[in-house]
Amino acid sequence: MTDAETDLAAVHSIDHFALNVPSLDEARRFYEAFGLDVRTAAGTAGEFDLYAGDGHRWARILQAEHKSLAYLSFGCFERDLARLHRQIAATGVEVSADPEGLWFRDPDGNTVQVKVGPKTSPSGKTRSLLTGVPADERGAHARSAAVMVRPHRLSHVLLFSPDVLAAFAFYERALGLRLSDRSRDIIVFTHAPHGSDHHLIAFAKSHARGWHHCAWDVDDINRVGEGAAQMAAAGYTKGWGTGRHVLGSNYFHYVEDPWGSFCEFSADIDYISAGARWDAGDFPPEDSLYLWGPPVPENFVRNSEGG
Ligand SMILES: [Fe+2]
Repeated sequence: MTDAETDLAAVHSIDHFALNVPSLDEARRFYEAFGLDVRTAAGTAGEFDLYAGDGHRWARILQAEHKSLAYLSFGCFERDLARLHRQIAATGVEVSADPEGLWFRDPDGNTVQVKVGPKTSPSGKTRSLLTGVPADERGAHARSAAVMVRPHRLSHVLLFSPDVLAAFAFYERALGLRLSDRSRDIIVFTHAPHGSDHHLIAFAKSHARGWHHCAWDVDDINRVGEGAAQMAAAGYTKGWGTGRHVLGSNYFHYVEDPWGSFCEFSADIDYISAGARWDAGDFPPEDSLYLWGPPVPENFVRNSEGG
């Protein structure tokens, strides 16, 4: 899509992310407990893939010495690829093209791919399915009857950045992402103009780049809470939640992974339709992070990458 207002071509989705981790065994145990489908493709020792309920491969998990983002892959429509190539090159970064798509490094040094692919971001609001029961029926079930929480899809990722406003300016010019909301120079949320969740990718201020979290969509706040209980039963008790964000409005529960970053159960996140105008705001930090929930743990904003 070419946007008449900005005349920029834009990506439409995150296709997948690739994460380096120091232990595939620990990673497998963590992501399986989280309700993701862990699969090892034939002939791919040293890595596995993560699929969600929608059947899409959302992540590659790679064996490495330290946890870090290996690369982030965005999807675009075929008609937009050549214009995206020109936009990325016009920012001054070096772009290489192979049969898989375009590759470059963003100003923070993250490796990024842009490739033609199906629109994996939702094309409408994922409505919360939480409903009450009428009189004379039980609303809850026994704990032993709990059904495993299995996320439907990836919602967004959040990266640490030493300069979040510069990171946003780059992604706006290069990939056509739009500002959803921000808090000063501390955090910036972006969406894709073809219709996406309130945030597809967000950037949080730190001393260095780094991987903070990936967020996965579940039906409603009840499933967010059940997901937290599911992880606690598997031994993953650290994190933050359950609560409700202000920016994005989603109900959340973050579970700390074995490497100090997070996986988020997310429900009912705001949705920005294709072509819709979103009144982006700049919110004071104390009024932007969460509407309700427990206090933010100190380690929630710790970046273990970059020394
Ligand atoms: Fe999130």
